[in-house]
Amino acid sequence: MPAVIAALPGNEVGAEVLAGHLNARVIQIAHRRFPDGECYLRFDDELQGRDVVLLCTLADPDPKVLPLLFAAALARELGASRVGLVAPYLAYMRQDMRFRPGEAVTSRYFAALLSRAFDWLVTVDPHLHRYASLDKIYAVPAEVVHAAPLLSRWITREIEHPLLIGPDAESEQWVAAVAAQVGAPYTVLSKTRRGDRDVEVSVPTLSAHEGRTPVLLDDIVSTASTMIKTSHHLRNHGAIGPICLAVHGLFADNAYNELKSAGADRIVTTNTVQHPSNGIDVFPLLSRAIRRRLDQ
Ligand code: R5P
Repeated sequence: MPAVIAALPGNEVGAEVLAGHLNARVIQIAHRRFPDGECYLRFDDELQGRDVVLLCTLADPDPKVLPLLFAAALARELGASRVGLVAPYLAYMRQDMRFRPGEAVTSRYFAALLSRAFDWLVTVDPHLHRYASLDKIYAVPAEVVHAAPLLSRWITREIEHPLLIGPDAESEQWVAAVAAQVGAPYTVLSKTRRGDRDVEVSVPTLSAHEGRTPVLLDDIVSTASTMIKTSHHLRNHGAIGPICLAVHGLFADNAYNELKSAGADRIVTTNTVQHPSNGIDVFPLLSRAIRRRLDQ
């Protein structure tokens, strides 16, 4: 029986796009809030024996997670054979250790919650720092889509002589991969984070790369403090405004405008999270990963 796709609120456009790629049907979830803030959900379709794919990107996750878990439980109760989650952005990956005594390692709790609700998961470049892979914390099969080839293609098409800059040691793995695909040099900075918006980033050495356009590459832009600090360093050292490229553009509060004011020449993200900066489409790759999952 062909799979059906349902969008949690805010993911309707993505669900139509995926349905087109997968030749699948979109089914509606009726969703509303009761006056007291609790949520109401209803599937109108027959789900007995079907593969149900729920699409929910998880930027600003807390208000989204209960409806998502309820939708998964409901699909199961209505007889779905498997319930899969497509979360183009997977939240709660960054708190991956107890930095101070008594802190919650939320990445593990979040993974446990989702693993209980779903049969499989597909996502794009989760923030893997201290975990080598998602299966260290997720108990269900998780398929990861890598945006690096798309970023490489974008850079090759748009930037003539790029110099790739990774803001911290964690970024080296994939900045190096993108640089190799583009055939461009790269440098990786060191970062110290003292608070959510208080980061120090080392000053890039550019003398060996004169005439090249700096391209800052990161997996996530949240407060944009990392990219803002790096952009200031570049400006202060006479470099041209950098191109800021990220997989997941979360842009908390006024981060996008602040990054523009810091001198970013262009800010481009993939469409894992809907934002005016979206310039790279991950949905064709996502749909292939979903197809592999459905064919298992
Ligand atoms: C951190 O380890 C990530 O790779 C990003 O550098 C970080 O999440 C960016 O956060 P922000 O935009 O708040 O500086």
